Amino acid sequence: MIFDVLTLFPKIFQGFLEESMILKALQQKAVEINLINIRDFTHDKHNSADDYPYGGGAGMVMKPEPLYEAITSVKKEDTPVIYFTPQGKLLQQNHVNEFSQKSHLVLLCGHYKEIDQRIRDSLVTDEYSIGDYVLSGGEIPAMVLIDAITRLQKGVLGDISSAHSDSHQKNLLGCPHYTRPAEFRGMKVPDILLSGNHQQIAKWRNKKAMEITRKNRPDLLEK
Ligand code: ADE
Repeated sequence: MIFDVLTLFPKIFQGFLEESMILKALQQKAVEINLINIRDFTHDKHNSADDYPYGGGAGMVMKPEPLYEAITSVKKEDTPVIYFTPQGKLLQQNHVNEFSQKSHLVLLCGHYKEIDQRIRDSLVTDEYSIGDYVLSGGEIPAMVLIDAITRLQKGVLGDISSAHSDSHQKNLLGCPHYTRPAEFRGMKVPDILLSGNHQQIAKWRNKKAMEITRKNRPDLLEK
């Protein structure tokens, strides 16, 4: 999987690429992540990537010309171009599963108020939000999507069944987990998990997952 990330702030990604699962996935070449600075596609003497909005109002708008050049420098004919915006569809596990089947994605990180609508109309194929709140830019949403897709790539998680049993894979949240010691500050691990009875353990986990989902996300049970 190749991610081409278009951003005005590539340094935001630094730590993300240098630690943990993403570092491992990069080392084993399960993913390639290219950071492309949109400012490199500006040509005026101030390298300006944004301008005042037509019609007035607060906030700046990202200019179309650098965005057009940046996107077309990496996009192939059928590459999805994903733009992160609070106006987008809410990103869900089924979207992540679908994108994880692709071989190349262009991720467009906006900043300031929005990007010029003509780029959305002509080049963006998908618009996603990561939640009903407003962030200062699309970099964190891009990292969210890269992380969620990368952990589904072959060989990245040692045991892929771990990804299949995640919260949200079956519209159900995850169950509680415990590790050693069996007793911590007087709190004991449920006996069933020490029993070695895998059928009963699976049943217990499913029951707990249902309880947690009903409590925190009853909307998922209606799906
Ligand atoms: N850009 C700003 N806020 C965002 C959000 N919630 N999701 C995706 N992109 C954004």
